[in-house]
Amino acid sequence: MRSTASYLRVITFLFIAYLLIEVTVESGEQSAFIAQPLSWLILGMVLLFIVAIEISLEALRSILFRSLKPDAQERYLLAEKAKKEKQFKWIKTTYLKLLDSKPVEEESEIVLDHNYDGIKELDNNLPPWWVYGFYATIIFGVIYLVRFHVFNEYTQAEEYETEVAEAKIAIEKYKKTAKDLVDVNTVTLLTEASDIEAGKAVYTTNCVACHKADGGGGIGPNLTDKHWILGGGIKNVFQTISEGGRDGKGMVAWKQTLKPAEIAQVASYVITLGGTTPAEPKEAQGEIWIDPDAPETETPVEEVPKTVSDSTTVAMN
Ligand code: HEC
Repeated sequence: MRSTASYLRVITFLFIAYLLIEVTVESGEQSAFIAQPLSWLILGMVLLFIVAIEISLEALRSILFRSLKPDAQERYLLAEKAKKEKQFKWIKTTYLKLLDSKPVEEESEIVLDHNYDGIKELDNNLPPWWVYGFYATIIFGVIYLVRFHVFNEYTQAEEYETEVAEAKIAIEKYKKTAKDLVDVNTVTLLTEASDIEAGKAVYTTNCVACHKADGGGGIGPNLTDKHWILGGGIKNVFQTISEGGRDGKGMVAWKQTLKPAEIAQVASYVITLGGTTPAEPKEAQGEIWIDPDAPETETPVEEVPKTVSDSTTVAMN
């Protein structure tokens, strides 16, 4: 493998193989190379295969070359050289065209008669790469002007609103897949059967010893009645389970053992026990808990930041 061309071929084929794997391997939104680590193996084999082909081609070429007569060899080498010179010529010419500068030898043609203590000025053309860039900004400017100042497509404030709305949707979606992100502030009552089932499983393994299978209570209080020592409702129950009860009462902080998602599930399961009649209910402990959010849906007023007393404040409406 001597020539740049063979390196380029290897890279190109490898890239095509990469794309093919990415497109054909079922991997959802993830890259195939993360979802299916075996893809790396396939890619590695493709690489070996291409390199092997390149080496064989090269070997074949050198054998054929050696079987030629000396004068034929010479002609072959000459032809190769000419081919090589031609190979990257277009890159060079485009580069020079984009620069449009005079070679040093011809600079005398464009020298201006400004002479400052021997420092002379050349009248070079503007380099085309720069000129085209400049035209592009003009076209951009015109389109921008028409879109946003003539037709008023949307304002910056509207753009902000849409992006925030989109981000909120994305966060919701993310939270659904990342259930372990819940904490006491964000936890909501889970109602899906799968979550309740999972919660029941957690409860059966960890909680029945003190609260009984039906929640009737033993060492721990009755979880089915309206009375709560530490507060009812999903948030309080979540808080109690993750942080534990009052010191010395026996209810430990389960956040060491259970994942946030599991705490949310078992808390939701505990809530479903409410109102059921256990076989041997423990006497009520604590207060009757009334959901403060339930009767009047008074949403707390969000604190609006005071306007900044700053002369640069811009009114947005
Ligand atoms: C070692 C016994 C024990 C285990 C195991 C236990 N708890 Fe408790 N639990 C208690 C005690 C005791 C209390 C009362 C705490 C207090 O008075 O501060 C309590 C209180 C609670 C409360 C609050 C009840 C109220 O009236 O406010 C909830 C909810 C609760 N436990 C859920 C659970 C869950 C869910 C599990 C399993 C993950 C569990 N507990 C495991 C002993 C236990």
